[in-house]
Amino acid sequence: MNRDVIIACDFASREATLAFLDKFTDVKPFVKIGMELFYAEGPEIVREIKRRGHKIFLDLKLHDIPNTVKKAMAVLRNLDVDVTNLHAAGTTAMMQAAIEGLTREDGTRPLLIAVTQLTSTDQEAMERDLLIKEPIDEVVMHYAETAKNAGLDGVVCSPLEAGKVHDRCGKQFLTVTPGVRFADGDVGDQKRVMTPAAAREIGSDFIVVGRPITAAEDPVAAYKRCVREFVGE
Ligand code: C5P
Repeated sequence: MNRDVIIACDFASREATLAFLDKFTDVKPFVKIGMELFYAEGPEIVREIKRRGHKIFLDLKLHDIPNTVKKAMAVLRNLDVDVTNLHAAGTTAMMQAAIEGLTREDGTRPLLIAVTQLTSTDQEAMERDLLIKEPIDEVVMHYAETAKNAGLDGVVCSPLEAGKVHDRCGKQFLTVTPGVRFADGDVGDQKRVMTPAAAREIGSDFIVVGRPITAAEDPVAAYKRCVREFVGE
């Protein structure tokens, strides 16, 4: 898949989501559906957005025993999403089981990417709560390599890590990066941010952008600006 902007549709209901998507008349953005919307509305919201012609990243971050994840992925594969994800912390066996579950009878499957360490986890919390003593950057790279070796297609990571992930895992291994802000925009609660142009420079394959688009006065114009700066069209 080519470099693209994915809009994080962090809305609480079907109505709010569709009212937002209705603003887009001449383009069909790639959208991310997360836990909030999925748990509120169920799989039908995924089918409905798909029917409207959008590509979908279903961000449910699965993490359980391999057999459970395999069965859950076998359900998700029928939703016909383009990308979905899990936690690399579930280990190689879980990631391999996920791929098995996600693969359809004809051999096709959605792209599967891994969350490494959440960006909300810092070195201190990792050492204290998870008893992982290595430097967090190294842990992130190790999880990325483990995901690659398990057969996954990429990772969710900070744009600041995207270049290093490509160095370690190859250019084909996808980096999907949130934490993007316009140079003249609000940072909000994101700590380490990058502009769409800088994310492109560093080699992000996909940027996930929420509030700079969803909370903009003119979301369609903000989306198009983002695409112009990131994809260069
Ligand atoms: O509104 P904003 O652009 O900050 O939204 C970013 C999106 O990416 C949100 O859906 C957020 O949950 C998600 N995300 C993130 N940082 C991560 C993983 C996911 O911001 N490390």
